[in-house]
Amino acid sequence: MSRPPLKKQIALPLLFAAVFGLTLYVLHTISGAPLTKVMANPDGALEWTMRFVSIAFWLSVAFAAVRALNELVFLVFRKRKGYEAPGLMRDLFSLVLYVTSLAVILKQHFESLSFGALLSGSALLGIILGLALQDTLGNLFSGISLHADKPFQVGDVLTVGKWTGVVMSITWRAVKIKTFSNHIVLVSNSSIAKESIEVCPRDGQNARIVNFSTVYTHSPVKVIHAVREAIRECDNVLRYMTPVVRIRNLGDSVVEWEVKYWLSDYARHNDTDALVRQRIWYAFRRNGFDFGSPVRTIHMAQAAQQDGEGRTAETLAEILSDVDIFSPLSSDELNTLALNVRGHVFAPGETIIRAGDSGSSMFVVHRGSVDVRVDSNGTPRTIKRLGEGEFFGEMALFTGEPRTANVVAAEETEVLEIGHDAMKGLFETNPDLVEALSHTINERRAGLAANSSTPISEEDTPDGLLFRIKRFFRLD
Ligand code: CMP
Repeated sequence: MSRPPLKKQIALPLLFAAVFGLTLYVLHTISGAPLTKVMANPDGALEWTMRFVSIAFWLSVAFAAVRALNELVFLVFRKRKGYEAPGLMRDLFSLVLYVTSLAVILKQHFESLSFGALLSGSALLGIILGLALQDTLGNLFSGISLHADKPFQVGDVLTVGKWTGVVMSITWRAVKIKTFSNHIVLVSNSSIAKESIEVCPRDGQNARIVNFSTVYTHSPVKVIHAVREAIRECDNVLRYMTPVVRIRNLGDSVVEWEVKYWLSDYARHNDTDALVRQRIWYAFRRNGFDFGSPVRTIHMAQAAQQDGEGRTAETLAEILSDVDIFSPLSSDELNTLALNVRGHVFAPGETIIRAGDSGSSMFVVHRGSVDVRVDSNGTPRTIKRLGEGEFFGEMALFTGEPRTANVVAAEETEVLEIGHDAMKGLFETNPDLVEALSHTINERRAGLAANSSTPISEEDTPDGLLFRIKRFFRLD
């Protein structure tokens, strides 16, 4: 729980100090007695009142001063250590200062007061209080030892007994955790000291394991590659730790797998597990893998005449006829092209094309939209959103150069992938298509040069590019 700002914390004590100070001044003007006398030896009701008003004044000042000092000291702490000091430490710090200030103020006003005698005289009282406050003191001391050991901090994920959640605060009495169902649980410090606890540090390399299965016919190498690639760029998955995909068991009817991945923020592991499963699902769909359900096996049996999405060549030809660049094609050409096209579905945020990779196919957006992203001084920047009927990936396909940008699905997006050989067939009979595409490539190169901080290969003259495409495709 966050503390109120300093201004709010000291406003009231300062207001009281002003009121008591003013009262003291008025009383002093009326009685004419010097303050030193009032503090040492008050005489009469007025001077006794002055003494108590003086105590109240100094207590208010001390209150404001302790709060301000607390803020200052723990501001320095935060700056030096990089994290917020635990509430218990702050409370103890203030408590010590409050008790000291009270002792000094009382001693100033009651010279004869002896704290030594007070402490020894109250030994019996101490025993009685100790017994009454047994649990509270137990919590306090467990809290102090928790702080000395520092097994966890605010923001870590803690499992204690049947509870798991994110640590919200650590006070002198209990640790407050927020469970993943958004419930607040207070676990007393003494039960934490007694129980075994599991801590997943906020910025540690915490791993998670997600299970899935495949049928026996799929190549393990292909499954490992597809799953690893699919989850590599999920939000909250650590990029520098390569996920481990491995066979967990050879079951009766399916191969049982597990993928181990590392998270940046463990507190979001439920969402990240779900995202990882979602990405595995999309990767399976694109690669024609089967999780092993009987229903899916029936679909797989029909896959030979269909694309990855279960569509026939006729349906694909119809879809392609609506795409602008293919409008000059005859229906025979569209049918031939459709035979060589595969549909793939990508999840929102999934990378379809990665800058720098080599590429031997282009894509038409059939459903959804994609963002073309380039690196601009170290941060990814979207330079273009391409929607239904638009295409991408043509630059590497037609020039043989590496991919020039990242292309990321902006929503669930279905793309139609067209390979090198299919395009070659079309170019042979449609020289206009080559020309139209070379124009698009030159325009996009200009867009890239204007938006990217990485050098882009020089823009060709339209004729030069046309020549290079023809040479690459061995036309003429
Ligand atoms: P390619 O280089 O194969 O892979 C990245 C793709 O992003 C690229 O082909 C183009 O299809 C697309 N692309 C690059 N720059 C632009 C741009 N300025 N406008 C639209 N698309 C682009």
